[in-house]
Amino acid sequence: MKQPLLWTAVALSMVFWVHSKGIAQYELEDGSCSEAVIGDLVLLQYSSRRSIPVQERQSKVVWYGDETLYCVLVLSKQKSHRNSTVEVLKGGVNHTFVELRLHSELGFGFQYWVRGFGKKVHPL
Ligand SMILES: *[C@@H]1O[C@H](CO)[C@@H](O)[C@H](O)[C@H]1NC(C)=O
Ligand SMILES: *[C@@H]1O[C@H](CO)[C@@H](O)[C@H](O)[C@H]1NC(C)=O
Repeated sequence: MKQPLLWTAVALSMVFWVHSKGIAQYELEDGSCSEAVIGDLVLLQYSSRRSIPVQERQSKVVWYGDETLYCVLVLSKQKSHRNSTVEVLKGGVNHTFVELRLHSELGFGFQYWVRGFGKKVHPL
């Protein structure tokens, strides 16, 4: 059960590689995440909302920094259902900022780990 979900997530992330801005999807992998190294981790945030009957939950993750992001990775800790989404509202890969919206369907919550990897761009 775990592997097909993983490959679905990989396939989805490839489909949305370039055009993920403004698209709400279950998880997000934007940019060159295969090259990400821990020393470049500039954003690490856990964002969760518990489920409340007949309510949608949401939260925003906002990061502004000095580094240019090359990977934005948002993974759900909760894999048993896929009733929440993440969406890039502003910035993201190739920007020094990102604003993300996490959102759940009625009656669901979410538990997301948000990671951003970036490098300082040295002026010439
Ligand atoms: C939860 O998500 C699944 C998979 O996307 C979907 O089939 C199901 O209808 C959703 N459940 C509710 C209550 O919205
Ligand atoms: C980021 O910039 C690189 C290099 O210019 C480019 O290849 C890539 O498509 C850009 N990615 C996004 C998501 O804009």
